[in-house]
Amino acid sequence: MWRLAVAFLLFGTLQAVDRQNFKVCDQSGFCKRHRSIVEPTGYEVIKDSIKLNETGLHAKIKNKDNTLKLSIVVLKDSTVRVLIDEDEGALRPRYQPLDALVNREPEQQKLKKSKEEENATKLLTTDGNRVVLIHKPFRIDFYVKDKIVNSINSKGTLKFEQFKKKVLLTDKEKGFWEETFKEIKDTKPYGSSSVGVDIAFVGAKFVFGIPEHAEGYQLRDTRTYEPYRLYNLDVFEYETNSPMALYGSIPYLVGVNQKRSVGALWLNAAETWVEIEPTTADKGALAKEVLDAETKPRNVPQQNARFISESGVIDIFITLGPQPNDIFRQLAALTGVTPIPPEFALGYHQSRWNYKDQKDVKEVHEGFVKNDIPLDVLWLDIEHTDKKAYFTFDKDNFAKPEEMISDLAENNRKLVTIVDPHIKKDGKYHIYKEAKKNKLFVKDVNGDNYEGNCWPGDSMYVDYTNPKARKWWAEQFAFDKYKGTDKNVHIWNDMNEPSVFSGPEITMHKDAKHHGGFEHRDVHNVYGFYQHSATFDGLKARSNNEIRPFVLSRSFFAGSQRTAAVWTGDNKADWNHLRYSIPMLLSLSTAGLPFVGADVGGFFGDPEEELLVRWYQAGAFQPFFRGHSHQDTKRREPWLFNSTTTDAIRQAIKTRYAFLPYWYTLFYEHAKSGKPVMRPFWLEFIEDESSWDEDRQWMVGSGLLVKPVQEPSAKEVSIYLPGKRQVWYDWHTHKARPSPGAVQIPADLNTIALFHRGGTIIPKTSEVKLTTKENREQPITLYIAVNQKGDFANGTIYLDDGESYSYENGDFAYWGFTFKKEHDYLHTITSTNLDKKGKLDSDVYIDKIVIRGAKFYPRNAHIFLDDFIPEDLEFEFNRDNFLMEIENPGAYVTREFKIDIHS
Ligand code: NOJ
Repeated sequence: MWRLAVAFLLFGTLQAVDRQNFKVCDQSGFCKRHRSIVEPTGYEVIKDSIKLNETGLHAKIKNKDNTLKLSIVVLKDSTVRVLIDEDEGALRPRYQPLDALVNREPEQQKLKKSKEEENATKLLTTDGNRVVLIHKPFRIDFYVKDKIVNSINSKGTLKFEQFKKKVLLTDKEKGFWEETFKEIKDTKPYGSSSVGVDIAFVGAKFVFGIPEHAEGYQLRDTRTYEPYRLYNLDVFEYETNSPMALYGSIPYLVGVNQKRSVGALWLNAAETWVEIEPTTADKGALAKEVLDAETKPRNVPQQNARFISESGVIDIFITLGPQPNDIFRQLAALTGVTPIPPEFALGYHQSRWNYKDQKDVKEVHEGFVKNDIPLDVLWLDIEHTDKKAYFTFDKDNFAKPEEMISDLAENNRKLVTIVDPHIKKDGKYHIYKEAKKNKLFVKDVNGDNYEGNCWPGDSMYVDYTNPKARKWWAEQFAFDKYKGTDKNVHIWNDMNEPSVFSGPEITMHKDAKHHGGFEHRDVHNVYGFYQHSATFDGLKARSNNEIRPFVLSRSFFAGSQRTAAVWTGDNKADWNHLRYSIPMLLSLSTAGLPFVGADVGGFFGDPEEELLVRWYQAGAFQPFFRGHSHQDTKRREPWLFNSTTTDAIRQAIKTRYAFLPYWYTLFYEHAKSGKPVMRPFWLEFIEDESSWDEDRQWMVGSGLLVKPVQEPSAKEVSIYLPGKRQVWYDWHTHKARPSPGAVQIPADLNTIALFHRGGTIIPKTSEVKLTTKENREQPITLYIAVNQKGDFANGTIYLDDGESYSYENGDFAYWGFTFKKEHDYLHTITSTNLDKKGKLDSDVYIDKIVIRGAKFYPRNAHIFLDDFIPEDLEFEFNRDNFLMEIENPGAYVTREFKIDIHS
């Protein structure tokens, strides 16, 4: 919404990114060729090539230049895969980033029926969906309950450049065989092999996804401007409100519709451009399909997305929803979920480039204790190493890492160290020597080890696409190899796009060679994914698979969520970057990556104190919460400011710790449902279309609405309360407000607008401690927000040991709480064990219950524990704001109880 105001500023701002360093579509031969297609490319299905089988079909399609192989396969849970590849006899195999998927071969589902007609082949799925292959012109339509929801190639833009033998070149063909950008030549020894097609989201007014861009949440019309680019790049001082590529890519988007949302995953790891064209379904090839008795086609919105990739195949997964929950579950079935993180990782992280030495580390972590500010993790950036040789410690400044780590550990704190993928070219460096000896580096176009420049100077790059290299990399984290570390050390993988200071667009040459004979252009976007996956495997293995690893990565791809958290890289200490962190994190969450955050305070520059406070307040409600900054910035530990600033920062961090039981539960639930923890409104309020593109506010889980202040000197915050006929409670005043609606609340320096959704129950730590480990043992306050009808609310809590995998063997507890109006004179609160496989009996108890929206007049209340003898409860009731507070009910979180409230 807010971004509308700035939406047309486009590239015209005064920010510092050097755009000359990065291509626009016109400077990229394949993008330009695809984008200039105006007439349909004329593909049709070769009719007698169609072979139906139990789960789908195979066929061939052709136009005047090409013949291609097509397969349509129906997968479990309303998901369909469409694969288009070169026909037999191709000169080279094409790369598919199948490791992005949880199962390289996702489970198929038998068809209910299939039908061949004159110009169409129809597949009917057991989930009640229909896939229609139109033969001429070639097109694939997807129907959910007889409504068309998606269509591939309805605009006829399918283009597939086949590998060719190099012959004498005409000028026209030169761009096909080699390209030069900023004096760096891409030799393209195999020519161009780009692929592209359009995917129409019929009925969708909005499309969201395809991170990472510093853009508003809603994807915009790109036709008169630049397409969104997906090419993992290290962009120095990136600008906001731009479709330029950033550090990671997830080629997934979702078209949202009140009844039928649809997702599309474009499984391709090469440089990709995505054109977005908002239109209506009465225009173009699909008009006939939406013409029916109840719909006027003019009123059916449609978003055409067109994906264009430099190489690889067309491998599209369409998830047919139809509801938002289904969309997230279906995406999770394909690319996976984030396993429950170690709990410390949800606490506050303190980083900077760099803490100078061990004394500095000690002073900082003691500073947090002295100033009564919670902290779980201290971070060491590149300067902690022995001259940028990763897996080592500087001999002078970090001479005794064991001491530093155990000092932190005694205070229940962890250390994260940075380990980048570029390896210092130094004959005395053991990692370099081993990787070289075992031939684990990426090769250049001539077959020699690829050399590039990065932090250490001349460097080589581990070829993580090689399984042998990944295994070796993982082994380097063993305690006897990574000397000085123990289980309290976790890892940060940075610069893994990869960043090559001397390379084209600050990354690797596209003609560099990887395992299996693939070129860098084929695997580029999955390079970082493989690095952080191998790091995760190494951390898990070093503890005999007992301790959950934490890995932060800058680069990512579809599936990265299984092994890494990510952050939004080198943002700036300005208000704009604070604002854009919200849509950026929402896009990542939408694309299946939930553990995300932005450098609190901004990486470049020195934030004014007010901005720093506001950023802490936002970060406290975002999944990954870390303060980090550039080496040229002033020190920013929270106590270095005036006391009002320090107090406000302390309060923000403490608020984070207070909500940790809720965060931890949400991560557990994400691992089961695929739903993100930081949620866009359309996931929760599909009935309220006006809220879907909201990107200054968000939900934490389904119960908590957050709006941090995002402007300087704000006197008030306006909040949109989404949904239809819902009630919301101001977290602090308990005041009830109806939705949909807007409210304004006064804003002082400590204000962060929080609203509790009627119908939900949120567990919160009653008195926070300075680390997650101590915090998790504290009593809980249950906040009950009664729904609009006044008769119901529910919520959950998940507990386990916070660090090991013993939850896999039943060492966990997952409990539900329900508030219910039984009849006019009786309301109850009960607890239930939601998963009997969980055997954990925890000492954590509930020391307070707060009921907001208690629209009854309580006379007495008592609790039944396991002995069926009622015990009287003390409570207070405030008639003015319908607030009931029960003190010390004597209930345990993981034991059954029932509270009766008589009125
Ligand atoms: C780039 C990263 O984005 C930043 O966070 C880090 O501090 C520097 N590299 C130095 O390692």
